[in-house]
Amino acid sequence: MTVLVTGGAGYIGSHTVRMLRDQGRNVVVLDTLEYGYRQALLGAELVVGDIHDRALVTEVCRSHNVTQVVHFAAYKSVGESMEQPERYWINNIGGTVELVEAMLAAGVRDIVFSSSCSVNGTPTEVPVTELAAVAPESVYAESKAMVEKILYWYGVTKGLRSVSLRYFNAAGASSDALIGEDWARSMNLIPLVMKAALGRAPAVMVFGTDYPTADGTCIRDYIHIDDLADAHIKSLAYLAGLAGLTAQQQAGSAISLNVGTGVGSSVFDVIHATERISGITVPYEVGPRRAGDAVATYADPALIQATLGWQPIHTLDDIIASAWRWHSTHLDGYGD
Ligand SMILES: NC(=O)c1ccc[n+]([C@@H]2O[C@H](COP(=O)([O-])OP(=O)(O)OC[C@H]3O[C@@H](n4cnc5c(N)ncnc54)[C@H](O)[C@@H]3O)[C@@H](O)[C@H]2O)c1
Repeated sequence: MTVLVTGGAGYIGSHTVRMLRDQGRNVVVLDTLEYGYRQALLGAELVVGDIHDRALVTEVCRSHNVTQVVHFAAYKSVGESMEQPERYWINNIGGTVELVEAMLAAGVRDIVFSSSCSVNGTPTEVPVTELAAVAPESVYAESKAMVEKILYWYGVTKGLRSVSLRYFNAAGASSDALIGEDWARSMNLIPLVMKAALGRAPAVMVFGTDYPTADGTCIRDYIHIDDLADAHIKSLAYLAGLAGLTAQQQAGSAISLNVGTGVGSSVFDVIHATERISGITVPYEVGPRRAGDAVATYADPALIQATLGWQPIHTLDDIIASAWRWHSTHLDGYGD
């Protein structure tokens, strides 16, 4: 019984692969390595290939006795998705359809999908529950919302069982600093703050200090990468539990869950935690607000806690401390 992890050489995938293997699961990774790193796999089995390759995916499922899939493989740049939407329709949506067809051809029916809190667009209320309107504001977010729908209909028509995890802001690195986020390809706040602290960027830009929040900066829900990895493992256990139910009981077993801590942290919270933990003053500049930035967004984690028994254990300080250890010892990320 093996778990196929698509996109497993990427940031979130590699931490999940590691946790699965640490828990004694057999894993095979499928990744094009377009945005992933072989080194991040720490020796896990890798098939270099594309989720569009239906014959390859079916063959990998059959030869490895794959019973469940965790599907990370996708493009994830919101800005790029507005300039080259076709890349996102083809890879994120078309690629997922090919993957699911290949899975079903090999008799595999469980999939955990990387969705995003961006499916809700700018939230009208916080904390954000799963009942919030699905209102994507980018091609990227729309691609995630559409895949959630596609998985639901595969459940109804073909008996696919799926959990779509709507991540809030994935952050941090493994506690031993062996793997982390390569900042060469990240525009996320924490790697940018680390870059500025380590002198690899002149300053970090703070977009707006006049928001109606305690310190005037935007608030986000940062979730430690190992808590996120754990949510995937608990989702796989949840799906395996469904397998024992009758087809009628399983009907419509596609569920979407928010994965966040429920705690909002501001941009200045992140900068000040970095200063406290690193002992370095973080250079920053204040710029105007950015169009489209929500004032505050953080999850209501009640549904995922009740459904999966999942509970995040890492604080913002844990996230910053792990990111600091990783970035300060990998100034060139994974290198080439
Ligand atoms: N990082 C975040 O904060 C965040 C938030 C919400 C959702 N997500 C989603 O989580 C998933 C993983 O994100 P990440 O940050 O680890 O991204 P990442 O870019 O580090 O990893 C994605 C991996 O998928 C691979 N890939 C892309 N297209 C492929 C294809 N057609 N076939 C095979 N492999 C392919 C890439 O080479 C890369 O290794 C993505 O689906 C992303 O949209 C990420």
